[in-house]
Amino acid sequence: MTHTTIKPTARLTGPRVVLRPLERRDLPLTREWRNENRAWFFDGRVITDDMHQAWFAGYLQRSNDIVFVIHRSGDDEHPVGQIALYDIEQTAGTAECGRLIIGPRDARGAGFASEAIRLVADWAFGTLGLSEVVAHVRDTNMASLRAFVHAGFAHRATRGTTVVLCARATVPPTPEG
Ligand SMILES: CC(C)(COP(=O)(O)OP(=O)(O)OC[C@H]1O[C@@H](n2cnc3c(N)ncnc32)[C@H](O)[C@@H]1OP(=O)(O)O)[C@@H](O)C(=O)NCCC(=O)NCCS
Repeated sequence: MTHTTIKPTARLTGPRVVLRPLERRDLPLTREWRNENRAWFFDGRVITDDMHQAWFAGYLQRSNDIVFVIHRSGDDEHPVGQIALYDIEQTAGTAECGRLIIGPRDARGAGFASEAIRLVADWAFGTLGLSEVVAHVRDTNMASLRAFVHAGFAHRATRGTTVVLCARATVPPTPEG
């Protein structure tokens, strides 16, 4: 079965990481990462290959959801993680950032997640013209909480064991005169 995709082809480049849209060839690795780290996600089910393929088919049809694969700059061969911007509401100017994983343990703690979050948020504000991006993180997930705060997100609320963080677009300065 073939699918036409309505995804943007955005490639986001930072000093240490490059983000490119998720492709079908990434699915085995992203499923592995998702299953290895399911304790940190609100949907903690083990994802089978069939489930992952079905999710991807639906994902390709949604224009309000983009998953990026994270690479180290200069290494297009070996992805180190994923991140997503989803529930994009152009009219409301809002979206959620999540599905964040840095897969290989030796790639963690190097600031890749913080940089990836900032790239996605800047893209959401600058290219999509959104005004607010939120994230939902478990209150025990210190690495994720710190990564979002490093990327400019602030605590908005705590609901049970979920922390809601938020980043807002900076209003461009008014031209003089
Ligand atoms: C959360 C995650 C994406 C962070 O990735 P990362 O690239 O290691 O994050 P960064 O290097 O940008 O740094 C995150 C911050 O958390 C800190 N940190 C890393 N691991 C930590 C841990 N186990 N406990 C507390 N702080 C931790 C880092 O030191 C850094 O803070 P600092 O610069 O103030 O020291 C990664 O740990 C991961 O994939 N975890 C499993 C999946 C997950 O939890 N996803 C998020 C779901 S909301």
